[in-house]
Amino acid sequence: MDETTQSAGKVCPRKVVLGKVVLMTQDHVVFFDTTLRDGEQSPGCSMTTQEKLTLAHALEDLGVDVIEAGFAMASEGDFAAIATITQAIRKPKIASLARAKQEDIEMAARSIQFADRPRLHVFLASSDLHLEYKLKISRQEALDRTAESVRLARSLVDDVEFSPEDATRSDRDFLVEMVRVAIEAGATTINMPDTVGYTTPEEYGQMFREVRERIPAVDAQNIILSAHCHDDLGLAVANSLAAIQAGARQVECAINGIGERAGNAALEEIAAALYVRRDHFGVNTSINLEKLYPTSEVLGQIITFRPSPNKAIVGANAFAHESGIHQHGMLANPLCYEIMTPSLVGVAHTHLVLGKHSGRAALRHRLEQLGFTLTREELQQTYYRFVALADRKKNIYDQDLVKILPETIRENRREPVAELD
Ligand code: KIV
Ligand code: ZN
Repeated sequence: MDETTQSAGKVCPRKVVLGKVVLMTQDHVVFFDTTLRDGEQSPGCSMTTQEKLTLAHALEDLGVDVIEAGFAMASEGDFAAIATITQAIRKPKIASLARAKQEDIEMAARSIQFADRPRLHVFLASSDLHLEYKLKISRQEALDRTAESVRLARSLVDDVEFSPEDATRSDRDFLVEMVRVAIEAGATTINMPDTVGYTTPEEYGQMFREVRERIPAVDAQNIILSAHCHDDLGLAVANSLAAIQAGARQVECAINGIGERAGNAALEEIAAALYVRRDHFGVNTSINLEKLYPTSEVLGQIITFRPSPNKAIVGANAFAHESGIHQHGMLANPLCYEIMTPSLVGVAHTHLVLGKHSGRAALRHRLEQLGFTLTREELQQTYYRFVALADRKKNIYDQDLVKILPETIRENRREPVAELD
């Protein structure tokens, strides 16, 4: 009999054999957080070293495996922030990004020299578009630079990740060749980014399957394949999950989905999807799910914007219900309209919002919480007044509810279980 236990938001598969519990290992997906690098590269998201450090501590508590702390060559500030983070953060690996250039790689290596577990992340474009127009180099030159730069990186740091930039718009044979060269030169993680958010889940999954099939060294040498998706078509999370299903065992993502243009894949959405649908994905992560919302809050306080209210997992409306039918169902059994409890991801509680779509059940529930018990008739009368008010007013506060109650009920208020908001 197979069972799945849940502890602190982590999936632990176990097998019960003749009354004994035998722990089985389940595939672990490495969470590589790039909020401090790709995330910071977007408008309104730049952070001081102190702010980066605050977020890095939150990411450590969240349980990410790798923190990409910055792009050392970009500025002195970036270098300093990476170096500071390496000295304060111990559990996650700290990655530093470098172009496939000697000076970048040496600078990146210096920025992580005091890290307990440093990672050097080297990237070079693989699409003809980038090679011809941006870098103005031939395919052969790109292969040579891949080999040289990964070899140099490996001579400085044991853990080297290589990313063929714009992988999803690259000639497939050339992409495979570049990945092969990077592995032969010593890369231990191969990240295949959808740099411009162009791919689809089927296509992206197929790319991972093909690379695994065509390069036996991937599985033979335990090379970790990694997904890195941008959200230009709103597919970043779906594409990342498709890659995981096709064998990717690292996913690169950012808190609140911040990142270049439309952003990176949202960390909280991938982590929640892998947990809530663990029956489907069957993989393990080290993310402490109850830290998802608090971490999103830390980021929201640092940068200039919050996630949109309808953003999955961390948006203000992610656990809010206004319509009468939904509120009635929620009061009867939260499973009717919620696939996870708010507390699973660190949100304090479900929010039944009283508005013009609400019904009697939610109105009674809120009034009960505030200490007012109404008979059927009193509720009916109060409900008519409530609907009339809600037609005129967008937000109904507790004070508004109290005002529309008959005098006698107001006077007989019991001990409330909730404070007036
Ligand atoms: O989107 C991208 O291609 C990148 C690389 C540097 C990994 O961010
Ligand atoms: Zn990116």
